[in-house]
Amino acid sequence: MVFGMIKLFNVYKNFGPKNPAIVDLSLNIEKGEFVFITGPSGAGKTTLLKIIFCSERPTSGNALVNGININRIKEKQLAFLRRKIGVVFQDFKLLPNRTVFNNVSLCLEISGVQYPIIRKKVHQTLRQLGLSKKERYYPPQLSGGEQQRVAIARAIINNPSILLADEPTGNLDPEITIEIMALLEEIHQRGTTVLVATHSQELLKDTEKKIVTLNKGRIVK
Ligand SMILES: Nc1ncnc2c1ncn2[C@@H]1O[C@H](COP(=O)(O)OP(=O)(O)OP(=O)(O)O)[C@@H](O)[C@H]1O
Ligand SMILES: [Mg+2]
Repeated sequence: MVFGMIKLFNVYKNFGPKNPAIVDLSLNIEKGEFVFITGPSGAGKTTLLKIIFCSERPTSGNALVNGININRIKEKQLAFLRRKIGVVFQDFKLLPNRTVFNNVSLCLEISGVQYPIIRKKVHQTLRQLGLSKKERYYPPQLSGGEQQRVAIARAIINNPSILLADEPTGNLDPEITIEIMALLEEIHQRGTTVLVATHSQELLKDTEKKIVTLNKGRIVK
């Protein structure tokens, strides 16, 4: 496995005969890169992230994620690959009836990690994201920025090699947006490949990061 790398070769994704979401897309992202995916609504940003996460299969073309050919991936490998990819969404997708601690611990429980190790890892991650005091809260009791930090904690608890964030600041005010972007940068600094999909030009204004611009499923810049 080549952790953290993503290579797409002439990938197409059609949701119907006249509905191409991704068109002849080739892309090379090295381990440890930070890349913004931008473009207007419907450009294919979410679809591209879903292909990388293997929740959508390319209609044609090939993709290597962590060195694995996702067209040929087996069930077992898929579970393993997904454990190495963290995902963060605009609407957080936290479980409302589980505490902050239990939202973050869930994937470790599913992986069969022993409880003392889970406790240690969750506490460490919550501390890192400034959420230690909130571990017994339920998501509806948190602000949007706090909920997004919980979602990031959940995404990075397994030390993923790739972090995919789809409009991670779409529902947050400008101050909290800066805070969340700083957290993503910190995760990137530790060697994680980070992909952020956003249509916000504000977020891209002063960045020196690589920007991939999509339009109607094609890379235009
Ligand atoms: N499950 C689906 N079934 C049918 N069409 C889909 C599906 N998912 C996406 N599409 C279509 O694929 C195209 C790209 O959608 P996608 O969600 O990737 O865009 P996006 O760039 O993420 O847009 P936004 O900025 O609004 O989130 C759109 O035309 C959309 O209608
Ligand atoms: Mg989208």
